[in-house]
Amino acid sequence: MEKIIDESKQGESIVLAKKPENTRKLYIESYGCQMNFADSEVVASILAKEGFNTTDRLEEADLVLVNTCSIRDKAEQTVRKRLEKYNAVKRHNPKMKVGVLGCMAERLKSKFLEEEKIVDMVVGPDAYKDLPNLIEEIDEGRNAVNVVLSKDETYGDIAPVRLNTNGVSALVSITRGCDNMCTFCVVPFTRGRERSRDPQSILEEIQELSDKNFKEVTLLGQNVDSFLWYGGGLKKDFEKASEMQKATAVNFAKLLDMVATKFPKLRVRFSTSNPQDMHENVFHVMKKHKNICKHIHLPVQSGSNRILKEMNRLHTREEYFTLIDKIQEILPGCAVSQDLIAGFPTETEEDHQDTLSLMDYVKYHFGYMFTYSERPGTMAGRKMEDDIPEETKKRRLAEIIELQRKHSAFRTQAYLNTIQEVLIDGTSKKSDTHWKGRTSHNTVVVFPKEHYQLGEFVNVKINDCTSATLIGEAIAHSENN
Ligand code: SAH
Ligand code: F3S
Repeated sequence: MEKIIDESKQGESIVLAKKPENTRKLYIESYGCQMNFADSEVVASILAKEGFNTTDRLEEADLVLVNTCSIRDKAEQTVRKRLEKYNAVKRHNPKMKVGVLGCMAERLKSKFLEEEKIVDMVVGPDAYKDLPNLIEEIDEGRNAVNVVLSKDETYGDIAPVRLNTNGVSALVSITRGCDNMCTFCVVPFTRGRERSRDPQSILEEIQELSDKNFKEVTLLGQNVDSFLWYGGGLKKDFEKASEMQKATAVNFAKLLDMVATKFPKLRVRFSTSNPQDMHENVFHVMKKHKNICKHIHLPVQSGSNRILKEMNRLHTREEYFTLIDKIQEILPGCAVSQDLIAGFPTETEEDHQDTLSLMDYVKYHFGYMFTYSERPGTMAGRKMEDDIPEETKKRRLAEIIELQRKHSAFRTQAYLNTIQEVLIDGTSKKSDTHWKGRTSHNTVVVFPKEHYQLGEFVNVKINDCTSATLIGEAIAHSENN
C-alpha cells in the first residue's frame, strides 16, 4: 500500500518537473455548431496537460484560440471581426499568440497566415493532438500549420475539460465528419469523412459526467443516425471489415439503448438526425426509455422535391412525411425541429410555397432558418449560379420565420394548464428570481425559484406562454431526482 502511494507521488513530481511553466493562460472562444464547443473542451484538456490554465480575460492571455465556423459567409465574417479585436488587444499584450482552430482553419489552411497577420497558428479539426508541437513552433517564433484530416481520430481517449459549464448538461461527441455531401454544405470538406467513436469511451465519458452529478448529455454528430462502430476507421470502409467486426458492430439505436440503460437517471438527447439515415429502430429505443428526451432535430432544408434533389438530400418530401408520421405513430407528441434554407440556387416561388406547405404539415416546435450562402468548393458553389436576389432570399426567409413563429406558438399553447417535468439548467435571462429549464420536448420553461435548486427535476404547472417559452410555477420535485 505504502509503495503505491510513493509511486503516485513520484509520478506527480515527474509531471511537474517536466512542465515547470505551469502558469500560461489560455483564452479559448468558440463559434458555430455544438461540435465546435465540444471540440474546444478537448483542446482545453490537451493544453491543460501542457500547463495552460483557461482564463476568461482576453487581456491576460498568453495564447488565444478561436474555434471557427465556415458554414455561412456571415459566420466567417464574425471570426474576422474577432481577429481585429485580438489585434487591438495585442498592442497592449505583445507576448500574446493567436491560433485559429476548426472549419475556417481547415478551409483556408496557410492562406490564413497571409490574409490575417495576427494569426500565428492554423489547426484543423483533426489535428488538435499536435497542438503541443505546434505551440512549441510558435514559441520559437515560427508560424505553425496542421490541417491534415484523419481516418480515425475521434479524441475518444481525451477527457474533455468542461468550459463555461452549468454543471448540469454536457455535450458528448460520438461521430466526426460527414459523408453526406449535401451540395450546399462545406462540412464534409472541413471535417472530413465520417467516423464513429468507440462506444466504450463514450460510456466512460458519460460515467465521469454522471459521477460529477451532471443530469443531461447530448450525443453529438453531424449525422448521429449513421453512427457505426466496428473497431475504428471510416464509415465508408465498413464493407471491408471482417465478418467478426460486422457481427459485433454497434449502430446508433444500439448505442442509444446502451447509454439510456446504463444511466437511467440521466436525460439523454442527440443531435443531428438526417432524414435519410434515421430509422424506425431509433424511435423504438426512444419509446423504451423514459430518460431519452422526446425531441428530434430533423433538418429538411427545403420542401420542394426538385430542390431537395439539387441539394443531394437523398429523400423526397413524401418520404419525409412518412418519417414524420412514423415518429408520431411510435412516439405520440414527440417534438420535431428543423433547419431550413431559403433561396437555394434556382428556387422558384413554387418551390418556396412547397417549403411553407411542408412546414404546415409538420408544425415544427422550433427551427433554425437561414438564407442560402454560397460556399467555395462545394458542389453548388462550383456548379450552380447563386441566382436568387438577396431581397428575394430575405423575403422568403422572413415568410418562413413568420410561419415558424405561428407553429411554435401553436405548440407552446398546447402545454397551457399541463404539468411538465423540467430540468433546471440556469437562472432565467430576464429575471434573477426565476429558474429556466427545459422539458423533454426541449421547450424552455421559466418559473419562480422558491426553494428549488439548479440541476433538479421539477414538475411545473404551465400557466402562460410566448411563442418560444412556457411560463409556470413549480408544484413539486419530480420522482426523477
Ligand atoms: N448535420 C449538421 C448540419 C450542419 S450545418 C448538423 O449537425 O447540424 C447546420 C445547418 O446549416 C444545416 O442544416 C443547413 O440548414 C445550414 N447550412 C449549411 N450550409 C449552408 C449554406 N451554404 N447556406 C445556408 N445555410 C447552410
Ligand atoms: Fe452538411 Fe449535409 Fe452533412 S448539411 S453536415 S453535408 S448532412
